[in-house]
Amino acid sequence: MADTRRIGIFGAGWVGLVTGGCFAELGHDVVVRDIVPERIEALRGGTLPFHEPDLPDVLARNAGRIHYTLDAEDLGATDVLFVCVQTPPTYSGDADLSYVWNALDQLPRVDRRQILAMKSTVPVGTGESVRAALEARGLVNVGYVSNPEFLAEGTAVRDFTNPDRLVLGAFADDDATVVEALYSGIEAPVVRTDVASAEMIKLAANAFLSTRISFINEIANVCELVGADVEDVAKGVGLDHRLGPHFFRAGVGWGGSCFGKDVSALKQLAGNSGYHFQLLAAVIEVNELQKRRVISKLEKHLGKLRGKTIAVLGLAFKPNTDDLRDAPSLVIASRLLAEGAIVRTWDPVADARGRLRGAQQCDSILDAVTGADAAVIVTEWPELRDLASAEVREAMARPLIVDGRNVLDPAKTRAAGFAYEGIGRGSSPFAALPETAEPAAEPPVRDSGPVEGGWENREVPPAETASARTTRKPR
Ligand SMILES: NC(=O)c1ccc[n+]([C@@H]2O[C@H](COP(=O)([O-])OP(=O)(O)OC[C@H]3O[C@@H](n4cnc5c(N)ncnc54)[C@H](O)[C@@H]3O)[C@@H](O)[C@H]2O)c1
Repeated sequence: MADTRRIGIFGAGWVGLVTGGCFAELGHDVVVRDIVPERIEALRGGTLPFHEPDLPDVLARNAGRIHYTLDAEDLGATDVLFVCVQTPPTYSGDADLSYVWNALDQLPRVDRRQILAMKSTVPVGTGESVRAALEARGLVNVGYVSNPEFLAEGTAVRDFTNPDRLVLGAFADDDATVVEALYSGIEAPVVRTDVASAEMIKLAANAFLSTRISFINEIANVCELVGADVEDVAKGVGLDHRLGPHFFRAGVGWGGSCFGKDVSALKQLAGNSGYHFQLLAAVIEVNELQKRRVISKLEKHLGKLRGKTIAVLGLAFKPNTDDLRDAPSLVIASRLLAEGAIVRTWDPVADARGRLRGAQQCDSILDAVTGADAAVIVTEWPELRDLASAEVREAMARPLIVDGRNVLDPAKTRAAGFAYEGIGRGSSPFAALPETAEPAAEPPVRDSGPVEGGWENREVPPAETASARTTRKPR
């Protein structure tokens, strides 16, 4: 291991705690500063304020090398200061840098050289603005390195310790060398570049990941119309070495704390610079519509959703996290509530009680599906792989599963007595759902979505809806 350094962290969130814990594991001394007293109290008491596999162990193992504080002055004795505060979207879609600027305002004044390393995702040009602000305040001995973070929640510790690459953009090469040395012990290609390019690498990576998902979701939607199976299509396409299989699964759309805000921030950044980033506008629109397609899949079987009980299974934006930021579940559940449906939710770790007024959060899958007219898989938690059981079928009022993550086998699910709707995998004929209610005579109410006319190409053909003539199972 190289020299042990003293590392300061602004922000005890996902990125800050993973960064702090993993650097402590590499032997460095770490001070983590946050502004939320309860968060610091919890951490001092050994409690992680959110769910992230492996992180509690890393923090516990290195407790002797990590110090938690509310006082920014405690960061004064550190050599490298990582900024890991949130950069949420503003109403305009730009990144809100107020937390970053507040953190910089709280930089302790020191006589030695200190390096500020930006891990928060920020618009291109932020480093340049920070450098100017530091100079204006006479903090000429503070260096600046853009060191964007690529970890994903749910696998954050593994991602930090086995990254695909390290990106370092600096104004002074020596500063980048100091930050790179902190990672000694971690094997990864290193991209050394200028600050603006490092900032762009992070935004472009998230934009491209989101584009891949929106692309395969569009392919899935066409598969539904032409009788192809998107799972096989994605596999066949992804085996092309030029394309690869990752981030290529159809579903109810992407979400989470980063994609939405970062794609929007890049689109906005381009717009502010005089360029209309048309592709990203489509990527965002496709994703918004994708979440709402669940509603039409339900209506196809159940008719109007008013008074129907729908189990929303999985709330977190992905498995292995309790993060609900920008989770598709929130949009889907809110749309269902707006349609007048009775919504029962389940998630093993995420708690949406404060965000979904009117929905009932259940402790078990069985509880959520009991008496339900349909179950919608929104997050691919492993527990949901066994959803198509006799017990669940018996408990439901109608055995309809909308598999928003394609986790179930359609043939086996249908053989187990369920009507099955996946994403891009063909539909259950109505005859397979004997308990299906007679669909509403009038066309189902559609969500207008964010863009006019967006639904027209996505409607279930009326003929298919009208073909259902079955009886309703008594409650
Ligand atoms: N969460 C991810 O998966 C992920 C991955 C890569 C990059 N990022 C980026 O990293 C940044 C942080 O994301 P996050 O998910 O960890 O955010 P978070 O909201 O989980 O944590 C941010 C923390 O910073 C604290 N904070 C705010 N102002 C502060 C200040 N002045 N001093 C000290 N602490 C302060 C907040 O109280 C909070 O605890 C964002 O820019 C995000 O886009 C996030």
